[in-house]
Amino acid sequence: MPISLESLARSRILVVGDAMLDRYWFGAVDRISPEAPVPIVRVTREEERIGAAANVAYNVVTLGAQASLLTVVGDDEASRTLEALVAKTGIQPHFGRDAQLKTTVKLRVIGRQQQLIRVDFENTPKTEILASQSASFLRLLPNHDAVLFSDYGKGGLAHVSDMIESSLAAGKPILIDPKGSDYSRYKNATVITPNRNELQQVIGAWDTEAELQARAQNLRSQLGLQAVLLTRSEEGMSLFDAQGHLHVAAQAREVFDVTGAGDTVIATLAAFVGAGMGLREALPLANRAGGLVVGKFGTATVSYAELMASVQGVLQ
Ligand SMILES: Nc1ncnc2c1ncn2[C@@H]1O[C@H](COP(=O)(O)OP(=O)(O)OP(=O)(O)O)[C@@H](O)[C@H]1O
Ligand SMILES: [Mg+2]
Repeated sequence: MPISLESLARSRILVVGDAMLDRYWFGAVDRISPEAPVPIVRVTREEERIGAAANVAYNVVTLGAQASLLTVVGDDEASRTLEALVAKTGIQPHFGRDAQLKTTVKLRVIGRQQQLIRVDFENTPKTEILASQSASFLRLLPNHDAVLFSDYGKGGLAHVSDMIESSLAAGKPILIDPKGSDYSRYKNATVITPNRNELQQVIGAWDTEAELQARAQNLRSQLGLQAVLLTRSEEGMSLFDAQGHLHVAAQAREVFDVTGAGDTVIATLAAFVGAGMGLREALPLANRAGGLVVGKFGTATVSYAELMASVQGVLQ
């Protein structure tokens, strides 16, 4: 066994970033609207799930480690729903409220087994609230073993560079799920975990593995990162660090639902790194966890017991 549940349970992860509420409206489609050529959905069931940074924190606690969630939400129904859901998970919540902010909600309307439309509610948080988040960050930092920034590009991480600097000064590992085309704000982090599209936006499309390696290493040294972890969906993942590169093949037996796999990967990596493991050691575990979560419908988290059952024999 690579690390005991007891030592994992002592690993404290500070998750900072954009939280969301994923909302699903399921219904029956019986007729077309007389108002426009669109179906009418009679909603029969509603489902809500915590998303983005909140889902990352949920993955940390499901594994058996500890997670605090520092995020900014609105002062609306969605934020209260999100808070109630988070309260059930064991995550330590630190929610900043901005009355002008609409809590990010992704509403999917599903009829006849298919998604008919997705409606997004979102805007950007105010700078004063974000400044107060930075103060909370400094207060929380000493009581955590690793910092995880979950950037979903909604504006909650405007001060990420300052927070990285404080984390560095405190000697904490820094893991970042990045967004956008400007990674200069992630300078000096321990590891960033872009997926294929995200990395392409920054280093351009690659034709060969050699080209990918050269450009990923170049990005790594430019940004002063310890490592770049490229998550490659069905191709597994590749780590680029000072030693070179390490590739692990995808482990999924069945694939049902790929959304949230990236959240599971970074949460698993952070939980084990927070417990004292090296990135290269934690990598196969994170890959396994990603492979397990894509095999699940609905749930997007993996427990320690499930993960250990799946890696048994593989790591020995
Ligand atoms: N189709 C798949 N088959 C096998 N493994 C998969 C598949 N999709 C994802 N995985 C596993 O999950 C990991 C992360 O997936 P991916 O690279 O798609 O992240 P992502 O795009 O950030 O996901 P998301 O943003 O939806 O959370 C992969 O490295 C792999 O281990
Ligand atoms: Mg992702």
